Amino acid sequence: MKVLVIGSGGRCHAIVEALSRSQQAEKIYCAPGNAGIAALAECVAIKDTDVEALLSFAKSEGIGLTVVGPEASLAVGVVDRFREEGLKIFGPTQAATEIESSKDFAKRLMKKYDVPTADYATFTDFEQAMDYVRRGTLPTVLKYDGLAAGKGVVIAESMEEAEATLRDMLLDTKYGEGRVVIEEFLTGEEFSLMCFVAGNNVVAMPVAQDHKRAYDNDEGPNTGGMGAYTELPFVTEEDKSYAMTNIMQRVADAMVEEGIPFTGVLYGGLMKTPQGIKVIEFNARFGDPETEVVLPRLRSDAVDLFMAVAEGRKPYAEWSEGATLGIVLASKGYPGSYDKGYVIRGTESVDAKIYHMGTAQKNGELVTAGGRVMIVVAEAATLKEAQQKACAEVAKIECENLFHRSDIGAKAFKY
Ligand code: AMP
Ligand code: GLY
Repeated sequence: MKVLVIGSGGRCHAIVEALSRSQQAEKIYCAPGNAGIAALAECVAIKDTDVEALLSFAKSEGIGLTVVGPEASLAVGVVDRFREEGLKIFGPTQAATEIESSKDFAKRLMKKYDVPTADYATFTDFEQAMDYVRRGTLPTVLKYDGLAAGKGVVIAESMEEAEATLRDMLLDTKYGEGRVVIEEFLTGEEFSLMCFVAGNNVVAMPVAQDHKRAYDNDEGPNTGGMGAYTELPFVTEEDKSYAMTNIMQRVADAMVEEGIPFTGVLYGGLMKTPQGIKVIEFNARFGDPETEVVLPRLRSDAVDLFMAVAEGRKPYAEWSEGATLGIVLASKGYPGSYDKGYVIRGTESVDAKIYHMGTAQKNGELVTAGGRVMIVVAEAATLKEAQQKACAEVAKIECENLFHRSDIGAKAFKY
């Protein structure tokens, strides 16, 4: 079967690699792909949001299965269009993607179906929002409801900060017109539970943890993710089973009940609070960089898995024992401004998986071409070994303009 993967980053590289291990994937295309993906798939120069071009490519090439990586493609309705044309595609419809794109929708659904999450209220009026904040406690969590490209969450420590933020979000229309969801501040360890969902069928992937801050000890600005690992010793089997029953399965059933069944990856951003596991957010897609540490552990057939979900059947997934740990190499300056085009050497001697995030080929050499450049993922029997191996392998990569965190996975050893 010919398979098309939509997207270009490290997450797509991991998806392409998982598919390439399947006997059934006769040929893999990736739109638009990147310099690393090009080793496993034929990259085609179509933008991941150009639905009509993707559709006509899939038709003319006789693509049997399409897998969607980024939320941007989902948000423009690529799944709806492919299905209308009778093509098999892995991912949620535009309507089901609302679980990620609208915080108010996600919160209302959770309230209605009794899914554990932070208490909240939604406002469009600045004075009413301020009133609510004054009556509550600090810190308070202010989430802009709309397409704020991940910049819409502020944890306000003081009344002044809350007021300034609410002014920005509701009066200055700096983020566009919109609503604000104000949430109770929760504390605890965060983790990601991704599930394959096809209607009422829900199958868990190994639990992972992202590292969002740029520097060691969770210092510095928020990023797209500087590393991740599986398994998490502080998430017990009991925790997982609680989260599967009371969160993931319940939400999948709720979506069916609401007439917007979910198909694809439902990503639970969860927190283990002193009052139990609660939802911080949902995403309607594979997490990045969680996917890069989860999919290498897939031992069953990826084409069968994605196809089952695309057809609304219960998928089968088998995972390796042990642990994985991935360290992101990013351009100096990221997540702020950074320069591109620096030569990267030494990747051929790395004895671990490398997924490219932002690289390019220039004059026969591999060069940096993005904020996050690549992720090195080691697999081992224990997390400690995976951490040691990932650190040792990252050290083999030479590039004068890259930096990385050296404490990925450290939280696991506190427990
Ligand atoms: P979100 O975009 O909703 O995932 O929020 C971004 C980040 O803000 C999360 O990963 C958490 O670290 C933090 N956060 C969001 N909501 C809460 C909350 N209710 N309590 C504490 N931290 C939160
Ligand atoms: N790792 C966070 C995300 O994919 O949104």
